[in-house]
Amino acid sequence: MRLPFIFVTGACRSALRLQQRQFLSPFPALRKPQSIFALRFMSTQLCKDDRSFYITTPIFYVNASPHLGHLYSAVIADCLHRYKALQGFNSKFATGTDEHGLKIQQAAEAAGKDPLTFCTEVSERFKHLFSSCSISYTDYIRTTQQRHRQAVEHFWSELQSKGLIYKGSYEGWYSTQDESFLMPSQVGDSLDSSGKEIKVSLESGHKVEWMKEENYMFRLSVFRTQLLDWLRGNPRAVQPERFHQAVLQWLQEDLPDLSVSRQRSRLQWGISVPGDAEQTIYVWLDALVNYLTVAGYPDKHDQWWHVAHHVIGKDILKFHAIYWPAFLLGAGLPLPQVIHVHSHWTVEGKKMSKSLGNVVDPLERSQMFTTDGMRYFLLRQGVPDSDCDYTDDKVMKLLNAELADTLGGLLNRCTAPALNPTQVYPSFCPQSFPTEQGGRAVVEDYHMLDAVKVLPAVVEMHFENLNVYKALEAISACVRQTNGFVQRHTPWKLDRRDSKDQRWLDTVIHVSLECLRIYGTLLQPIVPEISDRLLSRLGVRPSERSWAALNFLPRYAGMDCPFEGRALGSDSGVLFSRLESQKGDKQKPKKTKKSANLK
Ligand code: MSP
Repeated sequence: MRLPFIFVTGACRSALRLQQRQFLSPFPALRKPQSIFALRFMSTQLCKDDRSFYITTPIFYVNASPHLGHLYSAVIADCLHRYKALQGFNSKFATGTDEHGLKIQQAAEAAGKDPLTFCTEVSERFKHLFSSCSISYTDYIRTTQQRHRQAVEHFWSELQSKGLIYKGSYEGWYSTQDESFLMPSQVGDSLDSSGKEIKVSLESGHKVEWMKEENYMFRLSVFRTQLLDWLRGNPRAVQPERFHQAVLQWLQEDLPDLSVSRQRSRLQWGISVPGDAEQTIYVWLDALVNYLTVAGYPDKHDQWWHVAHHVIGKDILKFHAIYWPAFLLGAGLPLPQVIHVHSHWTVEGKKMSKSLGNVVDPLERSQMFTTDGMRYFLLRQGVPDSDCDYTDDKVMKLLNAELADTLGGLLNRCTAPALNPTQVYPSFCPQSFPTEQGGRAVVEDYHMLDAVKVLPAVVEMHFENLNVYKALEAISACVRQTNGFVQRHTPWKLDRRDSKDQRWLDTVIHVSLECLRIYGTLLQPIVPEISDRLLSRLGVRPSERSWAALNFLPRYAGMDCPFEGRALGSDSGVLFSRLESQKGDKQKPKKTKKSANLK
């Protein structure tokens, strides 16, 4: 019988990609129409006919080496960039380093180096980390580059020509560590390491100093209403919701004008105010413009600028959701489409900091757990809404359970020569797994097909909201279901000499490989190397790995399957080696026997 199809229709091209041919289980209780209706909601979100996408990370301060939190920001953005590319978008992905300001000037002095040499050294360390961790940026910006200086000068002149910058006098608290001005209500008392009384920022805990100087002010106060209108009219502009609410709350309070320059005598390491060599542009204004520089500002930024998405940590929300949109409104430029905010990683419940000596080195950890292992952990455990705690033990347990045992075990079983002596993608037998009851498939098997069929749309919805952990939760649940399917039918017990058993065995393996193909394709943005190994082992060619190729189990719907009868890839190595605890709590990958999970 031909299946009746339910289509999720949308008006635009993007939505068409979401059309899902639903498997209708022969067991009515298992039908899940609500998941399909959920897709309709999603399609409205994607209704843009634009095929360009622009994603950025914050640019990283070069006063210290990269830590786990930096890698986290980069991995999130990389995941979104890879996902959009798989969907056929022309995606630009920018990252880089924030090299000006007092903090960097002081760090270079302390290191006894000239600022540019110092910046280049640390910037290279970030670059090295990113290339080691498969961060596939398309542009790496440094704020000391000439193209950036030109963009900042132009941007400043635009604001000035609109009467938004005036000479004034600023008096108030300043945190050099955060490069941030603070209201008296944001400052508290504390003691430094020698027991001396100091003032600190209540939010970051960093020391603040009283500052009084002549400089240029930006008319931030005039943008309060426009910012409120923008946020109220675009409830998804800042995600997740709790951060959107936080910005709205800040805007209920007073919004004073902002000092946007420092006296040259105090800060030399920065871009001079055009036409006034005695003043240096405020490092945050300088840094935020990096997003425009990469987009091609001031001459050719249109293609990218109207599809800009920023990934940022929660500590820099005010700069991105208040100062930056106000600057952009002032310069007459469109606002970012979405500001994706993530929370922080702590270590044993404490903030990571050099003084506490608990900074997690991301390069060392990615060597210990593999690059894909670290990527998987960060994206599987990182919840944008709330802080997450890091321990090596958690990483090891998660990777062993989900990558080595469940996913690796499944691939192992289904491709092992003992079950698949000819090493081809076997045939699907519609009589053994019919769309109506009566074959050898049982109720849970139909349930699994339903789940895997809608999985791409579920994953898409979570990627769009940057809830990558939810996407991984859904994939992981399906992988477990497929393992259960194989376990339930114990194909290794079937009698190959019996033609019916042989057809059923082939069908069980065919269905399992189809599931694995879907998982491998969906996991590409998260674990690119593992996915490549998995898909290559299944014989899936690079041109067959896009979102458009996610057509699960076409034989069940009476269509041809391009993989049926195709030779499997020759690399039968372990997908992910189990990690073992070593002395001193260091882990290292352990070689496992390929056939360890056969039964
Ligand atoms: N230079 C500014 C950003 C300018 S963007 C125009 C900056 N740099 S940073 O190096 O301090 O931080 C970069 C990113 O790392 C931020 O998104 C920040 O939230 C993130 N992280 C820093 N510590 C973190 C954790 N402990 N956990 C997760 N991410 C955190 O701010």
